[in-house]
Order: sequence, then structure tokens, then C-alpha cells
Amino acid sequence: MSDSSISKFFEKTRKERLDIIRNFANLSEEELKILQNNDGGISFEKADKMIENAIGTFSLPLGIATSFKINGKDYLVPMVIEEPSVIAAASKGAKIARIKGGFEATADESFSIGQIQVLDTDIDSAVKKILESSKEIINLANSKSNTLSKMNKGAKEVSCKQIDTPVGKMLIVELLIDVGDAMGANITNTMCESVSPLLEKITGGRTLLRILSNYSTRRIAKATAVFDKKEIGEDVVDDIILAYQFADNDVYRAVTHNKGIMNGIIAVANATGQDSRAIEAAANAYASRSGQYRSLSKWTKNHEGNLVGSLELPLSVGIIGGIANVHPIAKTCIKILGVSSAQELACVMIATGLAQNYSAIRALSTEGIQKGHMRLHARNLATAAGAKPEEVDKIVQKMIEEKKISLDRAKELLDQI
Ligand code: MEV
Repeated sequence: MSDSSISKFFEKTRKERLDIIRNFANLSEEELKILQNNDGGISFEKADKMIENAIGTFSLPLGIATSFKINGKDYLVPMVIEEPSVIAAASKGAKIARIKGGFEATADESFSIGQIQVLDTDIDSAVKKILESSKEIINLANSKSNTLSKMNKGAKEVSCKQIDTPVGKMLIVELLIDVGDAMGANITNTMCESVSPLLEKITGGRTLLRILSNYSTRRIAKATAVFDKKEIGEDVVDDIILAYQFADNDVYRAVTHNKGIMNGIIAVANATGQDSRAIEAAANAYASRSGQYRSLSKWTKNHEGNLVGSLELPLSVGIIGGIANVHPIAKTCIKILGVSSAQELACVMIATGLAQNYSAIRALSTEGIQKGHMRLHARNLATAAGAKPEEVDKIVQKMIEEKKISLDRAKELLDQI
């Protein structure tokens, strides 16, 4: 099965959902068990090795967004998030985008940027000497990773910039490193540290910080999709564009608008074991790249009057190394996605962010978001009260009419059916 548009996925039992996912992603018995175990994926012993002073582990809900078609391929998208409505919203956005062919997405190759701060040197002559020695610097950096070198990846370029600070000018040397399918923070830091004695020798200066930049502007992911005006309504298309203009021109709205985008991106990041703080930090800097913090997405109309959404931001992600390799649920989620490269994962994440943003601003520019939230909450309570799928709608409807949404009321109404 390769069609991700599964009707009424939310009404299915956990077993039915898992069966669908197992077939879709060809999961093994072992992978299925990993999802079925309710232990959050890692034992205390593992947690204790991952961080300091561990006292336990902490689980969050893992769900699946349906209907995603990205670059012609169907995806079921695992999302880890505590907030209700987000997975429903992503699935809804993907379903509408699908009508016009789904998302088109691209991601740059994974070039990581490492920075070395060089002090106490004559900057002009230091820059000249560094550039003359760039081959030697690159070779030294690459001697730290046989794996990347064998794949013809690794450090590729050395560049220099001068920054002016209140305490004087500084030379910043940057290494551009192709980290392949890894997020690459460790190898970037290792390479920066390994070349710094050489930089000191070349420049006669002193190196201070040697660290990856999380502003991963050489790892930009982009997605675009067309949303059918017949499905949305022409007035709503116009209102969504007005909602976008509000976000693009007012920082107070832009932060919330972009938060909605990150609801999608970070939920996939969590499910696949990415460094979500790195992604957030880069996205926020990118939103400010014009000098004003703006919307990360753009919403316009095409010549047929359909709504066109696009989203672009830096996404530093990996499918090898890091927690993606340690956490069995993260590994299984990568298997569910069926992505074979970091770039493909970035394409899925950027499309999820766009789907999320579409649903949020569509709801906001029509009925508001509370109604949908309440409906979902009522649905969850009706299910928790033990209602069968065919009974849920009646109970939900009644609770909404009465404006009394609680587990006790759901149970009472179920008794009355
Ligand atoms: C809530 O988590 C996200 C929204 O506030 C996003 C938005 O306002 O665009 C609904």
C-alpha cells in the first residue's frame, strides 16, 4: 500500500492504525513491538547514559499525519507533540494540497558551517595567509573523518570574515563541511577544534571559540503547494492572503504564525530524533533575515485564483548518527517515513510546516480555532468514555450544543444512547 490518504484514520482503533502503518511502511514484528510498548522507547539505563543526573524518562504522544504527497511520493508522517489539533491540522492541510498534486519540496545538500574565532592578529595579513593555506586546513579537517572523506564529503571550503565589535575587530574563520546524511554537529566541532592550532600557527594569533553555527543557511529547505480555490472558497483564499500579510508585517502576529509552522516541523523533528532547539534557533534567525522578523511562509494567488503557499527555512537534520540511531522509536519513525536521505527528511518536514500553517490560517480566517479544538477535545472524551465510532458524532454534537464538554457528560450521554 502506498496511498497515505487513509479515510477516517482518527476513528480507527490503535490496533487498526498500527496495522495500516505496518503495511504501509513494511515494518518488522520487532519494529511493531517498539511502537506497541508503552515505555516511551528508552530504558532508564539508556537515559542514564544519554544525559547527566538522570532520574527517569518522559513520554509524549506519538501520532501519524495522513494524506501527505511530496514530490509525487506518499508519506505517513510521524509526529510527537503534546498539543491537540496539530496532527489533525497537518493531515487536513495535506489532504487539500493533494487535490492539486501535493507538495513540491527541495532541500540543499547538507553543508554545515563551523566557526573559529581568531584574536590578536593582523586581520588583513592573516586572511591572506589562511586563504593561501586553505588546502592544508581542509586536509587537516578531513583527516578527522574517514567516513566522510571516503564518500567524497567533509570539509570543502575555508572562508574568512571580519566582524566589528565594541571591543575591537575580530577575524572569524568559517569551515564549510558536507556532512552527508548526519546532522553533523559533532564532526563540525571536531574539525573546528582540530584546525585551530594550525590557524594559530599560520596567523600568529589566538583562537577562542571553535564551534558549529546553528544558523544553517547552507541547508535551506523549501516547499510549495497549490490549494484549490473550489475547496476553500474564493473569499477565504483572499482572507488567507490578508492573514498572511498581517503576519508578514507585524512581529507580534508573525511570532504566532511561525509558531504554528514550527508545530508541524518540531513534531516531526521530535519523532525522528532531531535537535529541535537547533532548528528553532535557525528558523527564528531566518525569519529576521530582512532586518525585521517576518512570516516564514508566503501566501499568494496564482492566475487561476488558487491559493499558493510556500515555505522556506534552514533545516539541519540527519538520519544517521545522534539520537536518530539510539532511540528505537525515532529509528522506527524514520522507517515509517521511508526517507533515505537527510534531504528527503527535510523535504517532509518543510511540507509538514506548510500544511500546518495552511490549516492554522484557514481556521483563523474562517471560524476561528476554538471550535475545531473543542470538537476534537469532545471527540477524544467521547472515545475515552467508551463510545463506538458510530456513537461518537452524536455525543460530540450534543456536548457542543450544551457547551458541556467533560468525560462525565460523555459517559452520561453514552448511557442514554
Ligand atoms: C497554536 O499552537 C498555533 C496557532 O496559534 C498558529 C497561528 O496562529 O497561526 C493556531
